[in-house]
Amino acid sequence: MSKLAIIGAGAVGTSVAHWAAVKGMAEEIVLVDIVPDLARGKALDLAQGAPLEGFTGRILGTEDFSALSGSEVVIITAGRPRKPGMSREDLLRTNMEIVRSCAEEVRKYAPESILIVVTNPIDAMVYVAFRVTGFPRERVLGMAGVLDSARYRYFLAQALGVSPRDVQALVIGIHGDHMLPLVRLANVAGIPVTELLAPEKIEEIVERTRKGGGEIVSYLKTGSAFTTPGLATAEMAEAILRDQKRVLTCSVWLEGEFGLSGVFLGVPVVLGRGGLERILEFRLTEEERQALEASAQAVRSQIALTGL
Ligand code: LAC
Repeated sequence: MSKLAIIGAGAVGTSVAHWAAVKGMAEEIVLVDIVPDLARGKALDLAQGAPLEGFTGRILGTEDFSALSGSEVVIITAGRPRKPGMSREDLLRTNMEIVRSCAEEVRKYAPESILIVVTNPIDAMVYVAFRVTGFPRERVLGMAGVLDSARYRYFLAQALGVSPRDVQALVIGIHGDHMLPLVRLANVAGIPVTELLAPEKIEEIVERTRKGGGEIVSYLKTGSAFTTPGLATAEMAEAILRDQKRVLTCSVWLEGEFGLSGVFLGVPVVLGRGGLERILEFRLTEEERQALEASAQAVRSQIALTGL
């Protein structure tokens, strides 16, 4: 039986469960949250859509972490959003304790699972989960590149007036200000976007992509994006549960790839039943290499703050 567990029944966790149910990705979807009855309520609300949408899997909500047992994929979304006056470092310390305790439960109840971390700051939080679980790097992934690449592709499609499906482009590096939306490789049905859009327009799109999360926070005021973050996470889980060998950008522990080691960073990988099955390494220009190095430095300074 395929089982997907989601820790954190907030906006992102609920969105992952929603997309997973609609896509029929697992026979059982479990939402776990420490807030009494929250996951139960969210799961029941979602499950009641089954007669309308036609999904057949079981959807359960609970406070009891033993419900993780038997999960093939576990997703950690639990954490706090940044409040006014709170620095990134404050957020890192608060969420680190949350991710640490969730990772301990995963190690205890789902020791064979593949873990996807969504809590911000993602590249540091996935490192915490990697250390606490002791899982091999193939089974600990951070979500961000799928979301950032989707935003990039969407903005390019809008500028070109074409279907977003026909735009291929990837964003590598940190999930933060130093992310790298790659211009050289962005294309529309194989045609480089550099042939179709003015350099200033492309630069504007690159900047908007980098600040894509912040733009939504500025509109919502009390929270951050959740619909597409949930969908992006569900895409990763689906690739694993259905052994699809999808090529998706995920934050993974690098061991020499792209000339970098000892850091989590978004790079394109093949996702299948084994989790991270292969990193697709390709040659970077000198400018791209330097930018990726800056991304790695930014993640390293976050990792240093974890003290792990
Ligand atoms: C974003 C936040 C969730 O990029 O990191 O929307």
